[in-house]
Amino acid sequence: MTVVIAAINGKGGAGKTTALMNIAGEYALRGGRVAMIDMDARNNLMKWWTDCQEKDFQPEGIDVYSHKTARGLGRWMEEHADAFDYVLIDTPGEDTSIVDPVIAAADLVISPVQPSKREVTGAIDCFESVLRVNEASGRNCKHGVLRTRITVTVRHTELYRKVRPIIEDKVGTYLFRTEVLERNVYKDIHNGIGTLQMQEVTEAIAKARRETLALVAEVDALLGDEPAAGYVA
Ligand SMILES: Nc1ncnc2c1ncn2[C@@H]1O[C@H](COP(=O)(O)OP(=O)(O)OP(=O)(O)O)[C@@H](O)[C@H]1O
Ligand SMILES: [Mg+2]
Repeated sequence: MTVVIAAINGKGGAGKTTALMNIAGEYALRGGRVAMIDMDARNNLMKWWTDCQEKDFQPEGIDVYSHKTARGLGRWMEEHADAFDYVLIDTPGEDTSIVDPVIAAADLVISPVQPSKREVTGAIDCFESVLRVNEASGRNCKHGVLRTRITVTVRHTELYRKVRPIIEDKVGTYLFRTEVLERNVYKDIHNGIGTLQMQEVTEAIAKARRETLALVAEVDALLGDEPAAGYVA
């Protein structure tokens, strides 16, 4: 069965594209066939992909496609999704009409937050859309909030401390235990040098890899999947 994961937060810049690139890299490393769909008109993901190809750092096991409409996505899913183990859908950082159809196609929606009030609100809006689409379609798409770009300074803010009680107790969706820290390597990989998993292992890369492995283990647990063969935690 193809697993479909989407990154959605209508309040932009939260780390959607970066999170999906890292998750894709991990699944590909395990031998999974991964498709990524760029639904953002700014084409960040597609640009990364063409840069990687031009620089000869094309990630093995990952294909990137561009579809900007619900119809285009729907057609692609019908015709091609079966050929992949994972389909990762990247969405624009603004409220758009594609949110509901993407949720309707997804098994899991991840809402990254930095955390700022805007982005936490965006994540909550997204969860509400997931509930609504589930109700209408009778499906059970999961939702989780992922804290990204975390620094020591951020950890001292009041909002950071409130994220867990807000997300888990008040709103009632899942908060990933794994936090994605602010790391230079996550910026660097946007420059067409392949995935995180393709970088030469330095101490900094090893930390980012461990973080990503922990995130993917949580994703798998949420989806109720057994780790694929060859996976080493
Ligand atoms: N954990 C991180 N550490 C350092 N830099 C990061 C991290 N996550 C994202 N960035 C940087 O922040 C910028 C925005 O991240 P990204 O493109 O993943 O966000 P996005 O949610 O996809 O944004 P948009 O809504 O504009 O598509 C990128 O340039 C990326 O390099
Ligand atoms: Mg993006």
